[in-house]
Amino acid sequence: MWTISLLGLLACSRTVLSTLLPQEPLLESLSSSKHDIFAFHKNLTEIESITYNEQKAGEWLASSLKDHGYTVEKQWVDKKEGRFNIYAYPGDIRETEILLSSHYDTVPPFYPYRRSNSTIQGRGSVDDKASIAAQFAAVNSLIAHKQISADDVALLFVVGEEVGGDGMRKANDLDLKPKTIIFGEPTEGKLVSGHKGNLGLKIQAKGKAAHSGYPWLGRSANEVLTRALAALMELGENLPKSEKYGVTTINLGRMEGGVAANVIASSASADIAIRIAAGTPEQIKSNITQAVYLAVDTFLDDGTKPEDIIELNFTKGYGPIDIDHDIPGMKSFTVNYGTDIPNLDKTVEGQKRYLYGPGSILVAHSDHEALEEDELNDAVKGYKKIILHVLGKD
Ligand SMILES: *[C@@H]1O[C@H](CO)[C@@H](O)[C@H](O)[C@H]1NC(C)=O
Ligand SMILES: *[C@@H]1O[C@H](CO)[C@@H](O)[C@H](O)[C@H]1NC(C)=O
Ligand SMILES: *[C@@H]1O[C@H](CO)[C@@H](O)[C@H](O)[C@H]1NC(C)=O
Ligand SMILES: *[C@@H]1O[C@H](CO)[C@@H](O)[C@H](O)[C@H]1NC(C)=O
Ligand SMILES: [Zn+2]
Repeated sequence: MWTISLLGLLACSRTVLSTLLPQEPLLESLSSSKHDIFAFHKNLTEIESITYNEQKAGEWLASSLKDHGYTVEKQWVDKKEGRFNIYAYPGDIRETEILLSSHYDTVPPFYPYRRSNSTIQGRGSVDDKASIAAQFAAVNSLIAHKQISADDVALLFVVGEEVGGDGMRKANDLDLKPKTIIFGEPTEGKLVSGHKGNLGLKIQAKGKAAHSGYPWLGRSANEVLTRALAALMELGENLPKSEKYGVTTINLGRMEGGVAANVIASSASADIAIRIAAGTPEQIKSNITQAVYLAVDTFLDDGTKPEDIIELNFTKGYGPIDIDHDIPGMKSFTVNYGTDIPNLDKTVEGQKRYLYGPGSILVAHSDHEALEEDELNDAVKGYKKIILHVLGKD
C-alpha cells in the first residue's frame, strides 16, 4: 500500500518529489511482481469497453498506469459520455521520441474473459487489449533493465477506433511530436508494411409510393437502388488494383427498402464499405457517382436529376497507407483492415510509423476471439526489439 500511495503522489507532483527521492523505487515498481502482464491483461479484458462505453476501462487503465509511476493525462473525447484518451509517460518529459499507441474500445457484443490452459479468450483479449498489455510490459521492462531511459517513451491509449476513430482524431490536439509511432493492432507478431484505404458510402434511393397494380403512377426506390447497386458491383471489378494491395473490394454490408409486397417502395438504402487498393478516394467517388447516375437514368422524369432520386453520401475516406517495416529480422506483410494510423496527422518530417501486435485479426471481431499466452510474450519481445532498433540500441 505504501508503494501505491507514494507512487500516486509521485505521479501527481513528480517535479517536487523527484529531487527528494531516488529513481529506484519507480524502476522497481515497473518490474515488480505487481506488474504481471497476464494479470494486467486479465483485469483490462474483464472490463467491458464496447465503443461509447469505454469509461470504466479508461478509469482502470489510467489508475493502473499511475500506480506504476506514470504521469497520466486524460484527454476528453466526449465528456458527457465519459469518453477519454489516455496519454501517459514514465519519465520526466512529456515530449518523447517514441510513442506507442493502441485502442481500448472493442466491438460488440461482450464475451467474458476465460483462460484455459494456455489460451486466453474474451472480447478485446486480442483487439486491442493484447497490444496494450504487451506495449506496457515491453516499455516497463526496458526501463527497469535500464536498456532505455524513461524519457524515451510515452503511451497513448485511445477510444473510438472501432467506429471511425474519433478518439485518435482528437489526439491530434495533444500536439505530440514523436519521431516514431508504434501502433498496436493484431498483426500475428509481424510488421505490417501497409494496409488498404477505406471509403464508406450510404446510398439512399427515393421513390414514389403507389399501389403495386399501377406501378406507372409511382417509382420504386427498391428498383432504383438495385439498378444502382448492380452498376456499382460491375464498376467494382474495374476499380484500381495494385501489386502490393491487390484489388479494391466493395462490400454491400446492409440493405433496406420498402414496406410491403403490394406497395411500391418509397425509400431504400444501402450501407457499403470500400477497401481501396490503389488511387485516391476522390477518384473512386467520382467513378462511383458517374456509374450510379448513368444506371438510374431510365427512372428520370422530365426535369428530375439523378441526385433527386438517388443520394450518395461518402465518408471522407483515405487511400492505401504505406507503413514503415524496416526492422532487421522481422517479417512483414500487408493487411486488409483499417487502423487509426490515417487519423493521426504527421507532425514531424520523416516521422516513422510501425504497426505491430499480438494475435490474429481473423479471430479479432468473432465470437471466439482468443490468443495464446506465448503470443503475448512474443509481442513483448517484438515491441522491445522495435524500440531498441529505433533508438539505435540494438
Ligand atoms: C488485477 O486485479 C486484482 C484484483 O483486483 C489485483 O489484486 C491485481 O493487483 C491486479 N493486477 C494488475 C496487474 O492490475
Ligand atoms: C487443458 O489441458 C488438459 C491437460 O493437458 C486437457 O486434458 C484439457 O482438455 C485441456 N483443456 C482445454 C480446454 O483445452
Ligand atoms: C475512374 O476515373 C478515372 C478518372 O477520374 C478514369 O481514368 C478511370 O478510367 C475511371 N475508372 C473506371 C473504372 O471507370
Ligand atoms: C447525406 O448528407 C447530407 C449532407 O451532408 C445530409 O443532409 C443527408 O441527411 C445525408 N443523407 C443520409 C441518407 O445520410
Ligand atoms: Zn483494433
